[in-house]
Amino acid sequence: MIKHPSWTNTSSIPTVAPMTSCSIAVVYHSGSGHTRVQAEAAFDGAASVEDASAHLISVDAAGQVDDVGWDLLDAADAIILGAPTYMAGPSAPFKTFLDATSARWAEQRWCDKLAAGFTNSAGLSGDKLATLQQLALFAMQHGMIWIGLGLLPGNHTSGGSPDDLNRLAAFLGAMAQSNADEGPQLVPPPADRRTAQHLGRRVALLAAELRTARAVVAEVGS
Ligand SMILES: Cc1cc2nc3c(=O)[nH]c(=O)nc-3n(C[C@H](O)[C@H](O)[C@H](O)COP(=O)(O)O)c2cc1C
Repeated sequence: MIKHPSWTNTSSIPTVAPMTSCSIAVVYHSGSGHTRVQAEAAFDGAASVEDASAHLISVDAAGQVDDVGWDLLDAADAIILGAPTYMAGPSAPFKTFLDATSARWAEQRWCDKLAAGFTNSAGLSGDKLATLQQLALFAMQHGMIWIGLGLLPGNHTSGGSPDDLNRLAAFLGAMAQSNADEGPQLVPPPADRRTAQHLGRRVALLAAELRTARAVVAEVGS
């Protein structure tokens, strides 16, 4: 039973069914596989949460998502957006996908879903903050609720290490860096994968809590 803290008269406390499963969609583009590694880590983090079902949706080189993917996005409690940084922004295929949501934007169909984002680039900076900012603004236009990384910066003191979680010290979302001459079997490195995993789990935990809270509110209102 879930109790609202403000209820003092226990006879009036409504009961709600145990938490129903929430759905987390990780939608991403990856040109040569590096960002896919990050997406899979975010997916693993989301899937690690009891009562959460996670879905990995790939945007193809033409910026297309299939019908199953769109249905999963529409039904999701939370959408985690991921793209490589190309020329200081999301890759063109991912931007095509973002633009293709404009009919949904007009209806505010994704309003009040949770949203979060990740990006990967070759440079340690590589201007990839601009990509996360664009993803966050996209979510704002849809009326979504943006979830930041929720981690202190890693690797920013003399005692820090490149193996630290959040080694790239982002707040807006999960960042990863992949050396341009190495394949996705090597990069992004484990610390960046764990950081993406953290984001996926954080979003799924919050989505589960929000779903439960909304069920309580609906129960009280009925
Ligand atoms: C067209 C293009 C533009 C790029 N622009 C940037 C950039 O602005 N900053 C950066 O650090 N890396 C940039 N990169 C490197 C990619 O972000 C990097 O190789 C990344 O790992 C690619 O991810 P993917 O394999 O998922 O496509 C660019 C790569 C391409 C192909």
